[in-house]
Amino acid sequence: MSASQSSPGNRREVPPARRTVLKGAAALAGAAGAGLTLAACSTETSTGSGAPAVPAEPVELGAASEVPVGGAKLFRKSKLVVSCKEAGQYKAFSAQCTHAGCVLDKIVEGEGNCPCHGSRFDVTTGKVLRGPATDPLPEVPVKVEGGKIIAG
Ligand code: FES
Repeated sequence: MSASQSSPGNRREVPPARRTVLKGAAALAGAAGAGLTLAACSTETSTGSGAPAVPAEPVELGAASEVPVGGAKLFRKSKLVVSCKEAGQYKAFSAQCTHAGCVLDKIVEGEGNCPCHGSRFDVTTGKVLRGPATDPLPEVPVKVEGGKIIAG
């Protein structure tokens, strides 16, 4: 009888110690996970101040006639936006939002729209019209050769 009484007693003492260790390990894992999550969030937002994509080499975007005079065209694949205020006067900007790096998705009434958090940019100057972005779109050199727009 004493053996059967002491045996369950021993079992009761050992598992709580293991549970305590496991709980502690789980708490540490949870804290580490939370830390990683926070680090990922802060990294994501902090890249907003990083350099947006600008072509390292000249990129041919297509026919200059595709950019309307007094308007602009978005080249999402190249992450560029080209505007033409007056005939033959083109300006190009990175189309990568300076907030967290999303690529602009459309131009509405001369404003480049970022689909991620709603920033708006003037596509003729690169200037921020609405945050959360605070930095303008970087300007990219642009020229027309043989009727084709070449940026970068
Ligand atoms: S990435 Fe946040 S507003 Fe563009």
